[in-house]
This record gives sequence, structure tokens and C-alpha cells, in this order.
Amino acid sequence: MFDRPYIEFLQAQMLPWQRIGPGRARPDAEYKYLSRDPDTGACSTLIRYPAGWYREGPEYLDADEEFYVLDGEIGFGDQLFGPDSYAYFPAGFSHDRLYSPKGAVVLSLFSAEPVAYGGRSADDERARSRATPYLDVLRMPWDMTLNDEKLRHLGISRKDLRKDETTGERTFLSMILPHSEPPGARGPRESHPVVEEAYVIAGSLVGPQGEMFPGSYFWRPPGIAHGPFGTRWGCVALIRFLGGEHVNEWSPDEAPFSFDAPYDPVLPEEHEHLKKSPWIPAPRY
Ligand SMILES: [Fe+2]
Repeated sequence: MFDRPYIEFLQAQMLPWQRIGPGRARPDAEYKYLSRDPDTGACSTLIRYPAGWYREGPEYLDADEEFYVLDGEIGFGDQLFGPDSYAYFPAGFSHDRLYSPKGAVVLSLFSAEPVAYGGRSADDERARSRATPYLDVLRMPWDMTLNDEKLRHLGISRKDLRKDETTGERTFLSMILPHSEPPGARGPRESHPVVEEAYVIAGSLVGPQGEMFPGSYFWRPPGIAHGPFGTRWGCVALIRFLGGEHVNEWSPDEAPFSFDAPYDPVLPEEHEHLKKSPWIPAPRY
């Protein structure tokens, strides 16, 4: 699940939508792979459901599915998920029906190859007991307590979406205040003993690899030093720490920061060509 190439970072807008074929989860919707483990099929994806998409169940996946609705609405059984809602369905969680009356774009994270099986799984009850069946994230309060003094300049707040009590893995929204910059335009670099993965939902975040706009994504394997970071108008990102408990380890030396850092990503071979044509957001004026 964790053996994926280092990506820091790509804009999802650079990747083409592809149609999902039969036998897969969510056939006839469209997907983009943000990252994928070639051995297990575990993947982080965007899925775009067309308006009127419908699938009669019951059916289930052999993969844990975790998702955040970016746009539109998607229904699982009796629960309709609107924008900024979240769920975690462990492998074997059986859905009676799936539907998207108005269409939707969903950040969907799978722990194994997302193949769909018809019927009700033998693990359904156990999966239900471990699920986070619905969070209305829009209406959750931000946790504004500071949890690392070295991140004070970012004014980081959180909305905790999930913590696995066995592995220590976490999924949360991270919010950084506008006008945040390392003091003196320099700062230590952080690293973690676990995978860090992020998708920017709003605002933008500037680091050594350039400016991450909404739709940007990174998959950072353990032990890679990163930062320092700053943001002109704030940033909201969904972040996951995978493979164990998250800790911040700080470099003894400092690295420079600039709001003008050009797009200089680390990308696997299949995405190398994206380096030459950075995605630029539409002008606002
Ligand atoms: Fe980090």
C-alpha cells in the first residue's frame, strides 16, 4: 500500500480523466490516479461521477475506501454526502445502492485494488463497526491548538477525520492562516518516519517545489526533508500520515524560503513530461 513513487507535487488538472471499466469500483464514472502502488493496486484517486449515475447493490470492495467530497453529491445507501463531507468504509462494508443525482467529484483513497464484488460481504458487520460512516466536515469546528512550536508561524488548525488506534495513522484537514511565512524567510526542514500525503483543497501553499494550488497533490515517502513553507492567502489541505504514528523531526540547519519559488517538482518517470508544462491557474482579474 505504501510502496509508491515519490511525487512532490503535481496538479490534478494536468492529468486526463479516464473512464472506469466494468468490474471495477464505480464503473462508468471517471478517474484520475494521483498515486498508485503497482503491487497492491492501492491508490489515491479523483473520481468524477456524472449526473444521474446509479448502481444497484448490494456490493462491496476488498479495499478500505476513504473519501472527501470536493464537489456535488454522492449517495451511499441512505446517506447523501454533500460537498465537504467525509467517510471511511473498511474493506467488506456493503452498500445497498450508490448514486449521484447531480454528479460529484470525490477524492477517493483505496487501500488495495478497487475491484467491486456483488452481494453482501461476510465481513460486513465487522467493517461497519470500524467505519466512520459520515462526517459533515463543513460544520465541524477547527482545532486551533498549536501542536508544534516550530510551526507557530503557520497558525495551523486541524479538523481530525480519522485516527487508527492500532497503527496511529491519521487523516485530517489542515488549515494554514493567510500571510504565513517563516521568520526571516528561513526555517528548519521537517521530516517524518511515515508517509505523508496531501491534496490541496483551497488556497495555496508555497515550498521549495513551487506553489501548490487547489488540485495539487503530493505523496512523500518516509524520511524526506521538506519545507520550509509559507502561504500568501492561506491553505486548506487534506493530509494523511500512513504506516504508523506521525512525528515531526526537524533539521538542525535552515533552508531558505521564497514566495517566488518556481515549479520544480519531484515526479516519477511516467509524469516527467509534466515538469515542462506547469499548470497555471486562471487569472483572477
Ligand atoms: Fe510534513
